[in-house]
Amino acid sequence: MAIKSIKTIFEKPIISKPKNLVNAKEMVRKAFEGKYAVPHININNLEWTKTILLAAEEAKSPIILGTSEGAVKYMGGYKTIYGMVTGLMNDLNITVPVALHLDHGSFGAVEKALQNGYTSVMYDGSHETFEKNYANAQEVVRLAKKYNASVEVEVGSIGGEEDGIVGEGEIANPEEAKKMADLGIDFLAAGIGNIHGPYPSTWKELKFSALKELSSACGIGMVLHGGSGIPKAQIKKAISLGISKININTELQQANAQAIWKFVESGEAKKGKNFDPRKLYATGIEAMRKTVLEKINELGSKNKA
Ligand code: 13P
Repeated sequence: MAIKSIKTIFEKPIISKPKNLVNAKEMVRKAFEGKYAVPHININNLEWTKTILLAAEEAKSPIILGTSEGAVKYMGGYKTIYGMVTGLMNDLNITVPVALHLDHGSFGAVEKALQNGYTSVMYDGSHETFEKNYANAQEVVRLAKKYNASVEVEVGSIGGEEDGIVGEGEIANPEEAKKMADLGIDFLAAGIGNIHGPYPSTWKELKFSALKELSSACGIGMVLHGGSGIPKAQIKKAISLGISKININTELQQANAQAIWKFVESGEAKKGKNFDPRKLYATGIEAMRKTVLEKINELGSKNKA
């Protein structure tokens, strides 16, 4: 019967979960041991996601696609994002390991992300007391285990503002970091003088002595948030001291916006059929592709898939 066959179509998922949509445990552990870093790049829409996946495939790099709660809301929700990522991975024949990661999630968001196919989660309790942060992190580790997902938590805090989350930029305490690591988390974000968004001209450098201490206390991959705009030499040094996942958002946003601004300001955007979004966004997409490839080279994750 017609009605029955329609029902059957909707009951069976059209796209099965790609085998290479994985948690980030192994990719970050390998990077930690091999002294390079896996790029975590925040996605904002279809163009971002497609461009990042294609660039990672071109460079044969593992990749972590990050979404903050704000980005989840913007794109429609967890199911939309899961559908978009798995659809693109299938249609574009992506073969490199990809992790779909919740960035700076609240406890409730972690639960929703896991229920909707995310393979990795960050619980951000950095605004809580350490005791509360620790207790929630313990619960997140327990929950993520059920889904075989990787877990990131934060100690200390990252300076600046991202999607309404404001951090004072507090340097992490090694004892607290070690306690968190011992919970069985997979990688740890720690405040080491890093800032979300553009670095002010007065900013000098990451607190390498703190990083060294934190990294040797924890013995797992450390995460560098606010990865945009840090001088290459500092990125290299940070990786040598245990940073194995680097989060990048602003630099891609800037590359995309600058290319589109140029296209508009030159008057090109008003010519012919350049009102077509596929033409209007093309320069931004190419600028993002180049930025992702540059970052993969800089982080050393090329050919590590
Ligand atoms: P930037 O926007 O500074 O690159 O930071 C991104 C980030 O840390 C996401 O968690």
